[in-house]
Amino acid sequence: MENSSTEILDLSSLPQEKWWTDECLYQVGGFWLMPEVVQSVDRVIKQFKPLSSDIILASFPKTGTTWLKSLLFSIVHRSAKDRLAIESPHNLVPSLEMLVYAKPNQPLITNIPFSTNNQSCRIFSTHIPYQLLAETLNSSECRVVYVTRNPKGRPISMWHFVNKWHFVNKWKKAKEKPWPFEVAVDKFCNGTFPCGPYYDHVMGYKKLSMERPSKIFFVTYEELKNDPKTHVKKLAEFLGYPFEGKENVEEQVEEVVKSCSFEVLSNHKVNKSEESPNWFKVPYNSFFRKGAIGDHENYLCDETIERIDALTREKFHSCGFMYGI
Ligand code: A3P
Repeated sequence: MENSSTEILDLSSLPQEKWWTDECLYQVGGFWLMPEVVQSVDRVIKQFKPLSSDIILASFPKTGTTWLKSLLFSIVHRSAKDRLAIESPHNLVPSLEMLVYAKPNQPLITNIPFSTNNQSCRIFSTHIPYQLLAETLNSSECRVVYVTRNPKGRPISMWHFVNKWHFVNKWKKAKEKPWPFEVAVDKFCNGTFPCGPYYDHVMGYKKLSMERPSKIFFVTYEELKNDPKTHVKKLAEFLGYPFEGKENVEEQVEEVVKSCSFEVLSNHKVNKSEESPNWFKVPYNSFFRKGAIGDHENYLCDETIERIDALTREKFHSCGFMYGI
């Protein structure tokens, strides 16, 4: 990996749009990025050289990243439940744009609380869309895991997350009002969401999975939730870390599934903590809310459901991806 001291993108030259209160997103290659990550995304795209043995977890924000981080770490390291009990999955699997490439000239990889010293099984995460990261990901035989989640729940998870995040950083001082829920839905549908548009993000990786299934493991949050053991086994095989042994395969899988379950993970002290990691000022506990399927029924009126379903038909179903309704 190379370092660079020059900031390449000038924020003021990029299209920008407000998404909540006075906060703006900046458009890069058709996707909306938070100002904090515009430069680091650019660094990842230009400087990151994945090794063939790397595993890259890609996702749209709030679709199950935390869960997949803990699953990937557990599959690769096995018996990881002791680590998961004391460390946030976000520190075990570092984000390329939020942590690894957060600063120019940072001594990358070696200077972060990295999950392992073993270079043969590095696991990173990213929210960068495939459309921006294709060249990087295809420059080596690295494997990609992508998780997605029902579009109807996305504004809800993000709305809760942003309100928590904003509360911690601003409201305590400025006493600003929370982010209105209708605005969150509207921004989600218009695509002006961090890393949005959601539909383009998902389809970028979905198309890759249709063209090159050996490169990417594409899974939905709902599939994992409904049958975690089957999908964890498939994921382990895809990654080249299959569960083996004549007798205790089922026990091994069960242990991984259980130690990464919402119920177990969300009850660890580190994940209940109001403290924030040093790379993102949100409390660790904001990554765990409900962890349920179908929560949108508690929030969305029929009209909003129809609005999102219409988008889903247009963006997913018309491309043969029958998901989300
Ligand atoms: P909800 O807001 O629906 O509860 P991300 O990790 O991409 O930020 O996504 C956060 C969402 O995943 C939140 O969804 C959170 O509760 C849920 N989540 C976190 N850990 C989980 C786990 N181990 N199992 C299932 N869902 C989990």
